Amino acid sequence: MSNVPLLELKKLIARAYAPYSDFKVAVIIRDRNGKVANGVNVENASYGLTSCAERNAVFSFVANGLEKPAELFLYTETEAFTAPCGACRQVLMEFDPNLPIVMINRDGEEKRVGIRELVPMPFGPEDLDDAK
Ligand code: THU
Repeated sequence: MSNVPLLELKKLIARAYAPYSDFKVAVIIRDRNGKVANGVNVENASYGLTSCAERNAVFSFVANGLEKPAELFLYTETEAFTAPCGACRQVLMEFDPNLPIVMINRDGEEKRVGIRELVPMPFGPEDLDDAK
């Protein structure tokens, strides 16, 4: 368990592209060596093509050759904590079914949860083995 990169999250969220919802999201994933990958939500005039901050961060994490994710920080400028959407929960399970998620609100308060708690009956790589 390490410190929340609050300053970095506050800088990062300014880059979110959310002209339609005005709901900005910033995500930082850290690996066990302290290397980080960033993600922000990127919306589109064709609304359904919007891409969430969490998935953008995971894809950046992979593309940048980082090691297994150790912790994910999810920041929104809201009073309530924001939990990852269903689609992102599935993607976040892929590399570590116990990935710690740290949600941070506008007051800098934090709430920690394991991704496994958010996905009660998961579908994962082992399910694919059954069909072989
Ligand atoms: N969004 C995220 O980026 N992550 C979440 O966990 C919840 C939703 C984005 C998608 C869209 O750009 C905006 O927030 C409103 O749904």
